[in-house]
Amino acid sequence: MNLTVTGTPLLEWSGDGLAIGLFEGAELSSDVAALDQKLSGAIAELIADAEFKGKSGSTASTRIAGSPIRKLLLVGLGKSEAFNPEALRRSGAAAAKLAKRERCKTLGVTLPLWNDDAAVTTQAIVEGIELGLYKDVRFKSEPDENGKIDAIELLGLAGQEAAIEKARQICSGVFLARELVAAPANYVTPVTMAETALAIANEYGLEIQILEKEDCEKLGMGAFLGVAQASDLPPKFIHITYKTQGTPRKKVAIIGKGLTFDSGGLNIKGAGSGIEMMKTDMGGAGATFGAVKAIAQLKPDVEVHFISAVTENMISGRAIHPGDILTASNGKTIEINNTDAEGRLTLADALVYAEKLGVDAIVDLATLTGACVIALGDNIAGLWSPNDELADQLLKASEQSGEKLWRMPMEEKYFESMKSGIADMKNTGARAGGAISAALFLKQYVKETAWAHLDVAGPVWTDKENGYNGSGATGYGVRLLVDWVLS
Ligand code: BES
Ligand code: MN
Ligand code: ZN
Repeated sequence: MNLTVTGTPLLEWSGDGLAIGLFEGAELSSDVAALDQKLSGAIAELIADAEFKGKSGSTASTRIAGSPIRKLLLVGLGKSEAFNPEALRRSGAAAAKLAKRERCKTLGVTLPLWNDDAAVTTQAIVEGIELGLYKDVRFKSEPDENGKIDAIELLGLAGQEAAIEKARQICSGVFLARELVAAPANYVTPVTMAETALAIANEYGLEIQILEKEDCEKLGMGAFLGVAQASDLPPKFIHITYKTQGTPRKKVAIIGKGLTFDSGGLNIKGAGSGIEMMKTDMGGAGATFGAVKAIAQLKPDVEVHFISAVTENMISGRAIHPGDILTASNGKTIEINNTDAEGRLTLADALVYAEKLGVDAIVDLATLTGACVIALGDNIAGLWSPNDELADQLLKASEQSGEKLWRMPMEEKYFESMKSGIADMKNTGARAGGAISAALFLKQYVKETAWAHLDVAGPVWTDKENGYNGSGATGYGVRLLVDWVLS
């Protein structure tokens, strides 16, 4: 699909579909009013016929006979007081999806400028269009039954080619994350994750290290390897490095939980636990790989280490027994009182490894707890950090990207429930506040580097069609990470 800006004035545009954004309860802008006049009142008529109010996400369409615009598409922008880049993403997606349904081959889009910022406006619209049109048909034997848009032109945004390019690069990372998360555990395994990492690193000329089981043993990664030991598939500890040409402005590490399947282990997930969704338990790693792809194309003046300790959590005669004691690579011992709290074990060794790289900050993303989903629901990830500056940077990136975050407390007292009589700690504490104690567990594996933990168990997946997130894997985290790295 061709996505371009055009200098053609609204009154002169012609093509299959023209999408016009309208605010709730507002008059038509002067150029839309002029177009309405030219079209003999077709816009006003559609607004009246469809009782179109301009509510966010609402749409209306009609055919205009004998006009250079074959179909008129209206897209609601919501209230003008609440207008922001997120509203642009939503309307970009709504316009593109409607145009596809209406079988428009060419689409013109006219949406208002946000904050007089043409670059941010363009980026947001293009993200909405790209993400909204995405459809995963890899596992269908028949192709998508809907139409296909050949070309989209953005009106009133002449000169914004770079913003289109930037948005498309970021979206290519989101698509990778969505594909990795949506593919089931018989397609995405530790081995294929390593292959994917190698392919990206080769494509963009990035450094990559894949530590095999023996390498991890040498580093003393007993926590990660304990989780991996029941699987028939080999664990892969993946480390990709993006480096800038000159001196980096900052060095950071991004760690993604990479459980390609989480059965729970011997504390196996029972009926109603959502075990069939546990292919998504590498959502953190998916976002991490997606961020690699985006950042490798955007080429910022920073150094970024992308890390994931990838494995399955399975059962077999080799599985960890509940009660086993594992030793992590920093020497701390862990009494495994629940084999289903495996993510924190893999992350413990990844955090110790990341800190040794001497980075300025570490951010981990993990589908870590059901408790976080109970607390914040499906749309919001939890953020834990002992470091206010890093937390604020992430909250700002969240605001910009529209990927929602909510800061949660690091309530040290809750660590008491993880004290062990026999080892340094247990891997799970009290059920109440389970997302907090999980974060406190991770904190034991970071000594002095600024660190933040994002529990993304909710937002990596959406059952319902949700604006530009479609339904299924959302690719949550990629746009947030990109905004943070660029900041
Ligand atoms: N991968 C799960 C968390 C999860 C649950 C992600 C639901 C997405 C949706 C994690 O490994 C897990 O099993 N956590 C346990 C922790 C408990 C044993 C302390 C949980 O949340 O129940
Ligand atoms: Mn688990
Ligand atoms: Zn898990």
